[in-house]
Amino acid sequence: MKKLSLLYTGKAKKVYATESPEYCIFEYKDAATAFNGQKVGFFDGKGMINNKMANAIFKLLEKDGIKTHFVEELSDRESLVKRVDIIPLEVIIRNIAAGSFCKRYGSEEGVVFDKPTIEFSYKNDALGDPLINSYHAYALKIATEEDVKTIKEMAFAINESLKKIFLKMDIRLVDFKLEFGKDVNGEIVLADEISPDTCRLWDAETNKKLDKDRFRFDMGEFSDVYFEVWNRLKECYGEV
Ligand code: TMP
Ligand code: ASP
Repeated sequence: MKKLSLLYTGKAKKVYATESPEYCIFEYKDAATAFNGQKVGFFDGKGMINNKMANAIFKLLEKDGIKTHFVEELSDRESLVKRVDIIPLEVIIRNIAAGSFCKRYGSEEGVVFDKPTIEFSYKNDALGDPLINSYHAYALKIATEEDVKTIKEMAFAINESLKKIFLKMDIRLVDFKLEFGKDVNGEIVLADEISPDTCRLWDAETNKKLDKDRFRFDMGEFSDVYFEVWNRLKECYGEV
């Protein structure tokens, strides 16, 4: 399938139409942004790593019965995915206190929760992706009660699979962000990407941060840790 018109330019990827209304093509960029695009950077290979890592993880999740938009890897930085209507909710699951959770609630970083948490942000750059609850989502007609029920069930199931996938790589899954979309049949599937951009990943032995926080907070070794995670994934799961 070939790339046709550009549908959408995101901060880390471009989305193109194809000759089929059922599919689109993602093209991952080497760019990195943080704090709603205020901080900008890049490294050679980031687009390749995020593309290949997201695809490998989607395939592993599919094996666990999770429906995703993934269809086929087309090149190092391009993939064919199902065309979906994105539900404009950023769905965040947390297993360990970090990031905005600590900032908002004054919690100490690294505290392990008895149960994972879930929260939603309204995916809207102009508004700065504000935190919302499910009743706000119904009021804004972003999602129905049934959609939210499905999204919650899928998000917690994805958390269980992802924790297992990363633990095999000697990585603790601290928190992550998911996006869901409705495919042409109206079915909710996992969309967007799962990568060190969208997860907090800590080394299981040392708690070294192996994710985009190294870029967000100028911690150094930004590209090194992405290659580290990608190499561990290949070692554990081969070319998936
Ligand atoms: P937070 O602690 O800053 O709310 O982030 C929670 C998780 O969501 C973390 O793994 C990073 C991810 N995330 C994104 O993927 N995109 C975003 O725009 C934000 C703010 C967080
Ligand atoms: N992805 C968001 C941005 O580009 C925020 C983040 O990941 O920190 O600005």
